[in-house]
Amino acid sequence: MGTEILSFDVEKIREQFPVLNQRVNGYPLVYFDNAATSQKPRAVIDAISEYYQTINSNVHRGVHHLSQLATDAYEKAREKVQLHINARHTHEIIFTKGTTDSINLVASGFRDLIKEGDEIIISALEHHSNIVPWQMLCEKIRAKLKVIPFNDMGELIQEEYDKLLSEKTRLVAFNHISNALGTINPAKEMIAKAHAAGAAVLIDGAQAIPHMAVDVQDLNADFYAFSSHKMFGPTGVGILYGKEKWLEKLPPYQGGGEMIKTVSFKKTTYAGLPHKFEAGTPNIEAGIVLGVAVDFLQEIGLENIAAYEQELLEYGTQRLMEFDFMRIIGQAENKASVISFLMGDLHPYDVGSIVDKLGIALRTGHHCAQPIMDGFNIPGTLRASFSFYNTKGETDRMIEALKKAKMMLS
Ligand code: ALA
Repeated sequence: MGTEILSFDVEKIREQFPVLNQRVNGYPLVYFDNAATSQKPRAVIDAISEYYQTINSNVHRGVHHLSQLATDAYEKAREKVQLHINARHTHEIIFTKGTTDSINLVASGFRDLIKEGDEIIISALEHHSNIVPWQMLCEKIRAKLKVIPFNDMGELIQEEYDKLLSEKTRLVAFNHISNALGTINPAKEMIAKAHAAGAAVLIDGAQAIPHMAVDVQDLNADFYAFSSHKMFGPTGVGILYGKEKWLEKLPPYQGGGEMIKTVSFKKTTYAGLPHKFEAGTPNIEAGIVLGVAVDFLQEIGLENIAAYEQELLEYGTQRLMEFDFMRIIGQAENKASVISFLMGDLHPYDVGSIVDKLGIALRTGHHCAQPIMDGFNIPGTLRASFSFYNTKGETDRMIEALKKAKMMLS
């Protein structure tokens, strides 16, 4: 299952991604929608098929050979994720359906841990998945939801955050990197401030995990949530990292098989970590293959990836700025390889549809982050989000396509 990538060579890396080698509407595909989902390397695609051809079986249930192989592979993947993010214990890694599911697991558990009048702080830079679960929790408990605002550059205003924190704050939730703007938030400092106020912290790491090395112990995050499909693994599986002490405090998320120790009509007792949060048959194949995606990322090296993507970000920004009336939404000093932009008064959807005809995949709209768009008083943006298999040549092709779109729409 090795990827045979010994050093960072983008052409060699691209060979590992079969989907990139195709034409869309007669043009070579330029895939710049990586913040929505990443493409999959051959090692991941092959591992899915290999799983079903060799060890498909249910996990943690049978004494038979295949079940043991599947269980070992699944638990090995958990360990790979643990090492990848430097969690202290393997049982602090919970398999979920994805980032949204991970956040809902924590929000649902906090029903037991907060009371009327308590406060939860989120940021105005959040994806809907890190807004709505907290809103639902606050409505249910009559707790208060407070929101850290952002400045014109799309950076969280730290002085406002400081003012919101108080002895009433029970939990702070924000993203490591904004999916809509690319802003990298100063997570470590913000976590330290929340802890000083006595609050727990959940980080939505969905956009950070494919782009930078994440060390949950160094961050000192209480919870860190992410998805496999954005980090070159299969869809349908994600991770909730939680510090042991917090996972012990949270009640089970769902009831069912696998999350119990004993069941009787009198009383059911629950399994220990991590199984307490893993009711039912999980997405076994996707969990195992997430481990393959982790191997792939480690082989290329997150430092190499981050450095290369910064080059793509700088080049893309510089080329987009050649347009008159170009507006880049989100110009944080510390930014990942996401560029949200508007071209004069051209509607993002119209521009996105035309460049699609020329083989360029951009995302248009509010990117599941309507409060950000409201903050900038815009309906949405065009978004180019780069991955390490993209090239400057592809950016040039996007620029040519945008020029054509502009001519057609002006
Ligand atoms: N959250 C994903 C995105 O930013 C879907 O596109």
